[in-house]
Amino acid sequence: MRKQIVAGNWKMNNNLQEAKELCSSIISQLGVSDKEVIIAPSYVHLASLVEFTKGSAVMLAAQNCHQELSGAYTGEISASMLAYLGLDYVILGHSERRVHNGEDNALLVKKVNAAISQGLKVIYCCGETLEQRKSGVHFDLITNQIMEGLFHLDAETMNRIVIAYEPLWAVGTGVTATSAQAQEMHAHIRKVLTDKYGADVAQNTSILYGGSCVPSNAGELFAQTDVDGGLIGGASLNAEDFTSIIKA
Ligand code: PGA
Repeated sequence: MRKQIVAGNWKMNNNLQEAKELCSSIISQLGVSDKEVIIAPSYVHLASLVEFTKGSAVMLAAQNCHQELSGAYTGEISASMLAYLGLDYVILGHSERRVHNGEDNALLVKKVNAAISQGLKVIYCCGETLEQRKSGVHFDLITNQIMEGLFHLDAETMNRIVIAYEPLWAVGTGVTATSAQAQEMHAHIRKVLTDKYGADVAQNTSILYGGSCVPSNAGELFAQTDVDGGLIGGASLNAEDFTSIIKA
């Protein structure tokens, strides 16, 4: 059975004090959960929050990593540094990094490989713009993002991959995909995985929805057969909202 996962992407928000407070509120409000719960704070808070989350149900992710493991890359953070901290996950290919930092599928292959080589699990993001959806290329585009970014991996390594479908028109906009739109794309992604890796791998891969997911719509989204949880941005910055999404 694939895992149900809710991950909070804090993006470039919170100082260390705020991050610790948010983290401890999430831990105390969460109690026990049958879902895997992940938070992705800023790099600079990770070492502190590793100590903070020890023994709790909350796992930690980084929001990105560099494709090389070390070297002359001023300002960058490597997967080996993240793995040394004991992190579980790294988010790769978030639309904000694809758009603002020019990350493409070819670069993401290197980042995925770097992360996997260090024992990290990857939340691999894909998603289309509104124009792409309107012009009807969205299914092909998502197929390509998955094929080009992940299909170099063997079937066994796919158990380290979580896919997050995040339509760009829904990320941070307050516009959410309908549960039917989410289900339709998630089923498509699972079919793409089935065609490449077979039913076992496809059925065991968690596919998360992201994009203006909030407490009032999480229940309906997560009830869809192929939606295995969410990658939450804005609403993950509030402990009450985040935990009610987890419980949805
Ligand atoms: P949002 O962001 O929930 O604020 O739309 C989602 C994401 O960027 O992962």
